[in-house]
This record gives sequence, C-alpha cells and structure tokens, in this order.
Amino acid sequence: MIIYKTKDYQDMSRKAAQVIAAQITMKPDCVLGLATGSSPVGLYQHLVEQYNNKELDFSKVTSVNLDEYKGLAPDHEQSYRRFMDSNLFDHVNIDKSRTFVPNGLEEDSSKACSDYNQTIQKAGGVDLQLLGIGNNGHIGFNEPGEAFECETHCVELTPSTIEANKRFFASEADVPRYAYTMGIRNIMQAKKILLIASGRAKAQALKEALYGPVTPHVPASILQLHADVVVVADEEALELID
Ligand code: F6R
Repeated sequence: MIIYKTKDYQDMSRKAAQVIAAQITMKPDCVLGLATGSSPVGLYQHLVEQYNNKELDFSKVTSVNLDEYKGLAPDHEQSYRRFMDSNLFDHVNIDKSRTFVPNGLEEDSSKACSDYNQTIQKAGGVDLQLLGIGNNGHIGFNEPGEAFECETHCVELTPSTIEANKRFFASEADVPRYAYTMGIRNIMQAKKILLIASGRAKAQALKEALYGPVTPHVPASILQLHADVVVVADEEALELID
C-alpha cells in the first residue's frame, strides 16, 4: 500500500487525478471503476481539464460505477448516473454506451445485481477502482457488518449513511433507504485500487481502515489485503496516523 499525504482537498484531487490519468495513458481501453460523493468531484474536474488540454483521451475507456440508489431514475437529480454525467461524462469524449451504473429502476433486486455482475465481467474486470470512504468506514455502500464475500447486492442504508447523505436531498425523508452496490468481492477483484479521503470527518475511519484489524465492522479495512492500493488523503484525513 502506498499512502500519499496531501496538503488539502485540492492537492488530493490533483494527485488522485494523476493516478487515473496515468492508468488511461498506459491502457487507453482500460476499465475504470468510479465513485460518486463529494470526495471525487475535484478529481473529476482535473480529468476534464486534462481532456480539454488534449492530454487525455477517454474514447476507448469503459467505466463501471460502484453504486446507485434503488428507486431513483437515471435522470433524477440525485441519482449517481446523473452525478457522473454532470461531473465527468458530459465533459469528456467517453462513449456513454460504455459507462455503466447499476439500474436503480430495476425493482427485482437479484436481477439488478446479477445483471451488474455480468456487466463487470463482460467488460473484462476493473483495472483501476476509485473509492471514497464513509465516516463509518464503508466503501461503495458496503456498510459495517456485511460479509466480505458479497458481489453486487442490495443494501439497506444505515442511519449514519442516511444522515451523511441527507445534505444532497430536500429532507432526510427523501433519502432512498436502499441501494445497489458492488460488493467487497467485486472491489477486491480490481487490479488496482485508489482510495481518496479528505477532511477530519474521515480521520477515524481512515485510521481504522489502514491500521486497525481487518474486520467487516470496518469494510475498508479489507483493502489492507489487496496487493495494489494507493491512498491519496489530505493532512486532516490523516491526522490520527503518525
Ligand atoms: C460513492 C460511494 C460512497 C462514498 C462515501 C464517501 O459512490 O460509494 O462509498 O465514496 O460515502 O462519500 P463522500 O465522498 O461524499 O464523503
């Protein structure tokens, strides 16, 4: 595991974008596993900037996103599909037919999940998986206590995640209660993992994930067992680690 300590969010975003840019440059037809949330917004801006400067070409890239709220249509303001379109896909030359997000409108959870596992498999597996980390140590929507061996599955969001995500919705009652998420098994099958974290709110989770026991109670702790993990985190997120 390589840990890069950056000064702040901007610096984290720049450094993490470099890791993704290097992946695309080295393998133009790579499969990127992507994440949503506040953490990657700056990173996506850097990728768009590099594309505009003709330093990056997304034309052969395939992407698979980690997760999607169950019940939200792709064009819903808070859907993760919409997030990806407005933060990245609409601004670069990626072929949208090769950008995948779990189907939030599929009511049959086992179908939605097995379809998504097949999508990942058909794409040839993930070359580089980008991850944020939840305040409770979750990755994707893999909440504390879930089995490590899960593939894509439907989860009931914990009160802590609903609380953290309500900032994006009109009220807490509007936050969907279920989501489809890649499982830890899918994540661990990625060839390389890039974990980003910024801010004090992440410090405890990051410390437990990187240096605590490997336990389903801290889903991100499983990353200690992956052979190729790069962590890019700012000083505040790393403040509990010597
Ligand atoms: C997003 C995702 C989540 C977030 C995590 C951190 O696709 O899967 O695990 O990465 O909740 O969220 P932010 O970045 O908003 O702090």
